[in-house]
Amino acid sequence: MALHCGKTCRQYLLHLAHDSVDFRLPELKALLALRGRQCDPSEAFREKSPFWRLCGLLEEDVRSVMSRTVCGKSAFELWGHGRTAAELKSSLLEYPIEKMTPFLQEESTYKINVYTFNKTLLFKDRIEKIDALGFLPFKGKVSLKDPDHIFCLLEDYGLDPNDIPEEPFHIYFGRWVADGQRELIRSHSVKKRHFIGNTSMDAGLSFIMANHAKVKAHDLVYDPFVGTGSLLVACSHFGAYVCGTDIDYNTIHGVGKASRKNQKWRGPDENIRANLRQYGTESFYVDVMVSDASKPVWRKGALFDAIITDPPYGIRESTRRTGSHKEIVSPPEDFSGESHVPVSMAYHLSDIFADLLNFAAHHLVMGGRLVYWLPIYRPEYCEEMVPLHPCLSVISNCEQTLSSHTSRRLITMEKIKEPEVYVLAHLADSRFSPYQGHNSFREKYFSGITKKNGKGSERTSKETQNLKNVQ
Ligand SMILES: C[S@@+](CC[C@H](N)C(=O)[O-])C[C@H]1O[C@@H](n2cnc3c(N)ncnc32)[C@H](O)[C@@H]1O
Repeated sequence: MALHCGKTCRQYLLHLAHDSVDFRLPELKALLALRGRQCDPSEAFREKSPFWRLCGLLEEDVRSVMSRTVCGKSAFELWGHGRTAAELKSSLLEYPIEKMTPFLQEESTYKINVYTFNKTLLFKDRIEKIDALGFLPFKGKVSLKDPDHIFCLLEDYGLDPNDIPEEPFHIYFGRWVADGQRELIRSHSVKKRHFIGNTSMDAGLSFIMANHAKVKAHDLVYDPFVGTGSLLVACSHFGAYVCGTDIDYNTIHGVGKASRKNQKWRGPDENIRANLRQYGTESFYVDVMVSDASKPVWRKGALFDAIITDPPYGIRESTRRTGSHKEIVSPPEDFSGESHVPVSMAYHLSDIFADLLNFAAHHLVMGGRLVYWLPIYRPEYCEEMVPLHPCLSVISNCEQTLSSHTSRRLITMEKIKEPEVYVLAHLADSRFSPYQGHNSFREKYFSGITKKNGKGSERTSKETQNLKNVQ
């Protein structure tokens, strides 16, 4: 499937949200892959545009993508497009009439919407644009409230809000097919969630992660750093069975201090299971338990269809792992047994990622996906910093900027090989040793943002909000 093709094939127009630009193409590819479809952008394809033309798809493919996407706003069957009104008209006149007529019948009702990107039009200008479409053979009656068919004229005035042209760069006209799942961002907002913590993952990003992971009904999904279970909430929404672990007893058992203002202690039933119950997906809750991700407790073998997680960065919570006194001080000479008193030790970021990738290589089913966040100090970032594993292939790497000098990258990997035979090669190959520079992220993060941002100015409120979203 190519995003562009000749005049003969049916085209669909995807109208995309403009707040998660980097995540959109991997999401579309993952959702098409769930239907056994591929997506190869052509050279003319502009990834940053809010409008993408898609070819070679069936309407069912498009509906299926829209039933999952949080990056896509709406999809249309594209009837015509052009750089000017005249070009649009000739393109519409070329569209096969037999593809239009089922939607223009006398006994049906319809309405036409006008949508403009990066420009607001006066009501009279909108009406004028609708009137200019009078050459189309609409036979039915207009119904603004409950039409059988909805059509849309979409105009693209570019991406620069400081340089809005008089005329649009491109105009599209099509039949509305379906809306995406933007509503989930509101309905699953952590603001209204029963159980939350300081680092609960934003609802929109949680759904994007589940989509990048190709989570589907009846999958088994695991989050090794589960926290308050935001990622489990998103995965269970798509019908996957979910489980997780966290080193923090209070989080797993929903006790201790509350994260909400005006509330001192967590109330009864403030836990992950209750979160799933809130959204009607409790039947997909397997369980969560207190466990240290650096010492996995799982039996050998491929257990999980997806591993999706937000590891601790050590900003708002420390990166910890369990240890024993033996690992820290040499035991006294007369001490014969092992200490079983767990103590907390530093868990370096590079070790967290090495352990996570190794765990995924061993415990994902073949073709299963690992989706996780990697914190980045932007001035030093290069692609080589992304941890690799010989059994996992990198599918996508999307940036979410947090401040002028920090960001996090959403890394998606897919299991392509069984690990056993690669273990020795893995140890010898420097490409697969975890990048030690990750360990200094915390110091750089703090030194860079104490009061000012990297440009020497006060942080913007968006930067402050973004920083609050990471720990
Ligand atoms: C960024 S938070 C995860 C937030 C989670 N996605 C949510 O929505 O609430 C990281 C979590 O990792 C946990 N953690 C830290 N070190 C760990 C370890 N060694 N093993 C397991 N969990 C650990 C912390 O307790 C924290 O809950």
